[in-house]
Amino acid sequence: MAPKRRFHIRTYGCQMNVHDAEKVANLLSHAGWVATDDDGAADLLVVNTCSIREKAENRLYTDLGLLREWKAERPGRILGVAGCVAQQEGDTILRRFRTVDFVYGTHNLRLVPTLVAAAEQGERSLRIDETRSLERFDLPERHPDLPDATPGRAFVTVMEGCDMFCTFCVVPNTRGREVSRKAVDIAEEVAALAGRGVREITLLGQTVNAYGRHDVRRGKAAQAGTESFAALVRRLAAIPGIARIRYTSPHPAFFDDDLVRAHGEVAALCPHVHLPAQSGSDRVLERMRRPYTSAEYRALTESLRTARPDIALTTDLIVGFPGETDADFRETLALVRDVGFVDAYTFKYSPRPGTKAAVLSEAVDPALAQERLAELQEMLRSLTMAAHRARVGSETEVLLEGGSARRPGQLSGRDPYHRVVNLTGRAEAAGRPGDLVRVHLVEATPRSLIGEPVSSVRGAGGGKFLKPGAPTADEKGRNARL
Ligand code: SAH
Ligand code: SF4
Ligand code: F3S
Repeated sequence: MAPKRRFHIRTYGCQMNVHDAEKVANLLSHAGWVATDDDGAADLLVVNTCSIREKAENRLYTDLGLLREWKAERPGRILGVAGCVAQQEGDTILRRFRTVDFVYGTHNLRLVPTLVAAAEQGERSLRIDETRSLERFDLPERHPDLPDATPGRAFVTVMEGCDMFCTFCVVPNTRGREVSRKAVDIAEEVAALAGRGVREITLLGQTVNAYGRHDVRRGKAAQAGTESFAALVRRLAAIPGIARIRYTSPHPAFFDDDLVRAHGEVAALCPHVHLPAQSGSDRVLERMRRPYTSAEYRALTESLRTARPDIALTTDLIVGFPGETDADFRETLALVRDVGFVDAYTFKYSPRPGTKAAVLSEAVDPALAQERLAELQEMLRSLTMAAHRARVGSETEVLLEGGSARRPGQLSGRDPYHRVVNLTGRAEAAGRPGDLVRVHLVEATPRSLIGEPVSSVRGAGGGKFLKPGAPTADEKGRNARL
């Protein structure tokens, strides 16, 4: 029998892209391919691209330049391009880079095995058709040989696409129109995940809390098999084994009272919301086509805090949007200070082809935008540090993820507030990736918290054995033998 051929997917961009790569990895595994982390060992390489800012898009072109050599090294190697740049620039990529065998867009994941088979026959293909069909979510069950990169955790797509058309953003062009999956299909997927030990799910969508909104508004939810996002969250929280539910990214415009209330009522719903604000200035928000004012945004954060007083809020902010004055920028700083974000992703505005803002005049001088970014980041650093310091001395629960990048051999994970917690002591004393462990927080750092496990596995020298997490493979084996 010929040796199995190996693939690697290089992913850029948001969680949606990461999850798309997981879906494609599963499809390729079902088609007989074997995953590898090593480009050098791969016979098939897929670059899964992001076009949110110019820098992200340029990474593809740098990669494709460098990959000429990879392709030439071994005959029969296959190169594919996927994701948001593929969706927008598909035929240009195929024309410009002879090394690329196939390009597929964000709605065409299911075609990958076919495109790869065609490439094996020397055919080059482009598939970037947009569809509203839910068929694209019909994917095979997880292949048993696929390595689990995130034990205990999983992404679950609930909706895809965006109908908001913020003036700075390419996503509506790269991901198409909003479509929501059927609630029963989502619940079935979550139950299957829980069945194989997943404790934390992150619900994904470009505007995730817009789930079902068009059907609900038209009175057609029952017919379409959807419901409100809050109803979906409550449905999924009732599935046995699911200890944590997160969602990203919600849009401030789609928080209804029920979703706010759910934060106080649904125990599994994590006390963290990543709530992109973009700006604190009403003038800028309007030019961005964000349908809320700074006051409305603040009111939403207050009602979330009323429902769940310990809620941690994080956000996305853009500086240097065309026409942003110093006074506008001060309003963003004021919003950040007043809301007291625990953290934020901050970006310098990057004009994107095909967006409304790309043709706006009054560009902000890049050096000034850089200064603003630095000032904003300075404020956020002190807020993050203050939030971390305030937690020292308390206990939390961490879902272990594996070795910390900075301290190899030690475990890290995330607490319910989505903060990274690095564990003191040897990894084997704390638990295994996928376990939920109680941790006593002992130190704050700018990027993370440091904690000591309160519960530890056997052999940890006097530590009491608690098993709050999913059974480990060993335990499952032992139980099966009993
Ligand atoms: N769907 C999410 C955002 C996805 S993009 C939402 O609506 O919240 C992630 C973030 O990238 C955005 O929140 C925005 O802050 C930033 N972003 C998007 N387009 C950008 C651009 N052209 N320049 C700079 N930042 C941008
Ligand atoms: Fe982009 Fe706005 Fe849609 Fe978010 S809501 S994906 S920022 S267009
Ligand atoms: Fe990038 Fe596409 Fe996500 S543009 S941020 S990969 S939706």
